[in-house]
Amino acid sequence: DWIMGDYIQEAVAKIREQVGDEEVILGLSGGVDSSVAAALIHRAIGDQLTCVFVDHGLLRLNEGAMVMEMFAGRLHAKVVHVQAAEQFLGHLKGVTDPEQKRKIIGREFVEVFKAEAAKLKASGQGHKGATFLAQGTIYPDVVESGGTASKKATIKSHHNVGGLPEKLGLKLLEPLRELFKDEVRELGVALGLPHEMVYRHPFPGPGLGVRILGEVRADFASLLQRADHIFIEELRATIDPATGKSWYDLTSQAFTVFLPVKSVGVMGDGRTYDYVVALRAVQTSDFMTADWAELPYSLLKKVSSRIINEVRGINRVTYDVSSKPPATIEWE
Ligand code: XMP
Repeated sequence: DWIMGDYIQEAVAKIREQVGDEEVILGLSGGVDSSVAAALIHRAIGDQLTCVFVDHGLLRLNEGAMVMEMFAGRLHAKVVHVQAAEQFLGHLKGVTDPEQKRKIIGREFVEVFKAEAAKLKASGQGHKGATFLAQGTIYPDVVESGGTASKKATIKSHHNVGGLPEKLGLKLLEPLRELFKDEVRELGVALGLPHEMVYRHPFPGPGLGVRILGEVRADFASLLQRADHIFIEELRATIDPATGKSWYDLTSQAFTVFLPVKSVGVMGDGRTYDYVVALRAVQTSDFMTADWAELPYSLLKKVSSRIINEVRGINRVTYDVSSKPPATIEWE
């Protein structure tokens, strides 16, 4: 059993020793691992760290602003916010195959990141440019790439920036390599990251790109962001009396999926012909198998009525009652 304060001191000393007076870049995604890695490395070396936040336009509602406010605003870390939505959407235009979509998003990520790293170097912001690439690799990732869970990688090609350090000619800095997820979360809280950020559900790298079925379009993304925001808000606000916990904390992952099909509805005296969303909420301990969550009907009812009333363009809400296997957690 180790004390977090001592652990931070040790980790900070190790990072300082490893980095010396060199520069580090880190791809900040807003996820737990990269956020905690950024906070820890920033604690150790301050402005020798530059975070690059590639915003592919397929993030949750207000996510970009939140990440910037946290890291640039509160932690005073150097963060480059790359607004690359148009570029990503441009490359995704007309593409409907899920694997193809993943590959494009993964490839563009690397391209954008490489371009930013080169720009930083040229700008002389870090005196000689970064020589280290920091990543929020955690212990289960290390084990995973060693074999056991690589099945997932073939079923759905992961795009968590594999091979990037070699492509960039950078040394790796991975300060979370020995930690399990719950330790990473404790560390995050100890470093001052908000509980809400550190205890978030996982969010896939390709983001809403795999939650908009078929072709990814900006208007679909906007509808989905707003619908999903309502779902998450209600999950956080609804407390289960038996446990005293919110339904957000009682589920392992919950999100909304955009279905590019239209169905008929009625609103006032008029007929509507609008899109459908599916709500997905699962409980799992390892994400390899998962059960759909038995959310209270009252919660589903409220979410459905809010989405249909507040998000013009969606007139039908469904609940996904499929377990994994044979379904997967994501729809693509
Ligand atoms: P599935 O859908 O395979 O998802 O049951 C299992 C877990 O993995 C996440 N996931 C991904 N995460 N890049 C990621 O970073 C991906 O391409 C990706 N695909 C799935 C998914 O959200 C769930 O937590």
